[in-house]
Amino acid sequence: MIIDTPFAIEVSNLTVSYNARPALLDVSVRIEKDQLVGVIGPNGAGKSTFIKAILGFVKPDLGTVKIKGIHAKNAKGQVAYVPQRGAVDWDFPITVQEVVLMGRYQQIAWYNSPCKKDRSAAMEALDMVRMTNFAHRQIGELSGGQQQRVFMARALAQGSDILLLDEPFAGVDAATERAILDVLERAKKSGKTLVVVHHDLSTAAEYFDKLLLIKQRLYAYGEPDIVLQEDLLSQVYEGRLKIFKDVIKKERS
Ligand SMILES: Nc1ncnc2c1ncn2[C@@H]1O[C@H](COP(=O)(O)OP(=O)(O)OP(=O)(O)O)[C@@H](O)[C@H]1O
Ligand SMILES: [Mg+2]
Repeated sequence: MIIDTPFAIEVSNLTVSYNARPALLDVSVRIEKDQLVGVIGPNGAGKSTFIKAILGFVKPDLGTVKIKGIHAKNAKGQVAYVPQRGAVDWDFPITVQEVVLMGRYQQIAWYNSPCKKDRSAAMEALDMVRMTNFAHRQIGELSGGQQQRVFMARALAQGSDILLLDEPFAGVDAATERAILDVLERAKKSGKTLVVVHHDLSTAAEYFDKLLLIKQRLYAYGEPDIVLQEDLLSQVYEGRLKIFKDVIKKERS
């Protein structure tokens, strides 16, 4: 079933708790297609929980998630995910190409091996992140930034229109950050919607079309100049306003 909707993701009245403590409270937001969206907010704000709730990895107490107009539980495989780097076991003996092929497993029946189409989708994805030359290397031998790009390739190989990435820029150097941003922008141009958890407010306005500011509740969603407002940031980041004054100044200059 295809529903004609301009929204990639619709979250309505979403509340998610861990041990009866809400990590997200009554969050409603509609994310348009073909956008590069940054999710910002302090540590423990519920950013990863927001991503996991869209994926159906955590069960909400209340609320619904729709993917391209369809209830999320009927839209499995429509959303690809790049987890936070700390969540992955890098010592697993597997090559880069095999990691990327894993992105195709939803399309491969259990009794089949990957076919030519799966292999070419994997190689295309590796090309998109500029990691073709590493295809036969063990994933554990790569640098952190290279591993991050391989995981982006795995998500791209899945062929979903919607990609969720949890802090892809964490712990990478400036050159790798540029390379990852370049992949995100090219993915957007090829028609994907990307929702990216991002830590660094000083680059948020430059990198993203829209920002989603969250701390348990949704504080703002929209273009960066609407979201990066002093009063909103001071509510969300409390005592750490000085840095954000600089961000706002930079944004306005
Ligand atoms: N599996 C879990 N069990 C219990 N509490 C959890 C669990 N996962 C997250 N939490 C709590 O829920 C809240 C939101 O966590 P979440 O990981 O979504 O925040 P975050 O914004 O991604 O933080 P960070 O910037 O540190 O990654 C935090 O208070 C956290 O301690
Ligand atoms: Mg997180």
